[in-house]
Amino acid sequence: MSTKVLVTGGHGQLGTELTLMLQNRGYETFGLGHRDLDITNLSQVRDVFQTIHPDVVCHTAAYTAVDKAETDRNGAFLVNAYGTRNVAIAAEEAGAKLVYVSTDYVFNGEKEGTYSEFDQPSPLGVYGQSKYAGEQFVHDFSTKYFITRTSWVYGQYGGNFVKTMLKLAENHDRLKVVNDQRGCPTWTRDLAAKIIELIQTDQYGTYHISNSGSCTWYEFAKAIFEIKGIDIQVAPCTTEEFPRPAKRPHNSVFEHMALRLNGFDEVENWKSGLKDFLSMKR
Ligand SMILES: NC(=O)c1ccc[n+]([C@@H]2O[C@H](COP(=O)([O-])OP(=O)(O)OC[C@H]3O[C@@H](n4cnc5c(N)ncnc54)[C@H](OP(=O)(O)O)[C@@H]3O)[C@@H](O)[C@H]2O)c1
Repeated sequence: MSTKVLVTGGHGQLGTELTLMLQNRGYETFGLGHRDLDITNLSQVRDVFQTIHPDVVCHTAAYTAVDKAETDRNGAFLVNAYGTRNVAIAAEEAGAKLVYVSTDYVFNGEKEGTYSEFDQPSPLGVYGQSKYAGEQFVHDFSTKYFITRTSWVYGQYGGNFVKTMLKLAENHDRLKVVNDQRGCPTWTRDLAAKIIELIQTDQYGTYHISNSGSCTWYEFAKAIFEIKGIDIQVAPCTTEEFPRPAKRPHNSVFEHMALRLNGFDEVENWKSGLKDFLSMKR
């Protein structure tokens, strides 16, 4: 019998990629969108999980509007904290392994150097706080879990920085891009593949999963245009020049200590992942 995997947020950027990859690899996959499964409704979550009886739950659904969360604290915590609690409870009742996708925004960015899984989170904004509260609920209610923190995600199936840059380049000759926030871009395909590796094991715990290496948003934008051969002037600027409602960490570069110590390969370098993504036929 094939392994049954339920994906929450199955129509989101990562959820879509993961659902398709799981299907291609022969898993019996249930990629459930918001309409099929509202994670804020515990009795619905229980009903759905009891009907499907998954072996693995990949919880990608989230309130991801980082700036909006600053003025919608209740909305962000309802989905990211209590929604995750509901998923953790129902997954545990089903005896399933749980993957909870969390974020680099749990860190405040003040550290010099890279963040390992053993560094203490201290989120700057509501989104990061609510995702971190979700992590706490996973610790409380789940016995077989992977908390996979990721960062700067892009891919084929959602809105993201890469697509925004390419769109802007259609009608701009020059752009200013923030050069004082450093992180790790992550291609959904590389992330999904690593999650699938993890779920085949019992090596539970918290994992930082991103492409390896790091860059600033400015360097990321330059690489996108360079790879695509787009002639556009990109100038570096500071975060202060582009004020946003939510504070973001200046440094959220991951160390992939958990992958390394548990015998998993690190993910390919961010630039080669980006090249592969941009060369894909769409
Ligand atoms: N994108 C990034 O750069 C990034 C970075 C670090 C971590 N992450 C984490 O990675 C995961 C996947 O992110 P993503 O980029 O794929 O985000 P996404 O495209 O915004 O997908 C999130 C999905 O969650 C769904 N959702 C929202 N509220 C829900 C609810 N109450 N019940 C069920 N589904 C609900 C959304 O559906 P509707 O749109 O219909 O509401 C959406 O399809 C998230 O956990 C996010 O926190 C993302």
